Amino acid sequence: MRIYRAADYGDMSRKAANILSAQVILKPNCVLGLATGSSTLGVYKQLVEWHNKGDIDFSEVTTVNLDEYAGLEKDDPNSYYRFMKENFWDHVNIEPGSAHIPDGTMAFSDKECRRYDRLISRCGGIDMQLLGLGHNGHIGFNEPGSAFDKDTHLVKLSESTIKANTRFFGRLEDVPRYAYTMGIRSIMQARRILVIASGADKAEILKSAFFGPVTPIVPASALQLHNNVILVGDEEAMSCI
Ligand code: GLP
Repeated sequence: MRIYRAADYGDMSRKAANILSAQVILKPNCVLGLATGSSTLGVYKQLVEWHNKGDIDFSEVTTVNLDEYAGLEKDDPNSYYRFMKENFWDHVNIEPGSAHIPDGTMAFSDKECRRYDRLISRCGGIDMQLLGLGHNGHIGFNEPGSAFDKDTHLVKLSESTIKANTRFFGRLEDVPRYAYTMGIRSIMQARRILVIASGADKAEILKSAFFGPVTPIVPASALQLHNNVILVGDEEAMSCI
């Protein structure tokens, strides 16, 4: 694993955007696995800025997002589809048919999971997967206890994730209880993984994930078994390492 220490959120975002840009420059038709969450906002902002300056071209890139709430309309202000459109897809020259995310309008569908797995393999697999880190060690929506051998599946969100995500929905009861997520196996099949973490509230979990035992209790600890992981954390998130 390669670790980059960043001074703060802005520096973390620039470093991670640089790594993603390098991937796109080296392989213009690459497949990027994308993530949502506040950790990723600065990365997308930076990529959009460089795209507008003419420094990065997404015309041949395919993207596959990690996860989506189940049972939300696409245009719901809290859907990850909407997050991606507002923060990234609509601001770069990615082909509309090349940006993918699980279809959350299907409340409970195994068919949707299989469709998504087939789509990822038809694209040739993920070249670089961007990941944020949940406070309980989740990656995507793989909550503590998730088996490491799952592909895309439907999960029941843990209480702590529902609570953490209430900040976006306003009321606890409005947060969806289920979500579609790539499984740990789907994530581990990515050829490269880029993890970003910012803030003191991520410090403990970052340490357990990368320097503690590999255990399903901390889903992100599975990444220790991957041979091409890059971690970019800011000083606060790295304070326990
Ligand atoms: C959410 C998402 C994850 C994300 C994580 C951390 O629940 N499903 O993909 O990485 O939480 O989010 P944040 O970056 O806002 O801390």
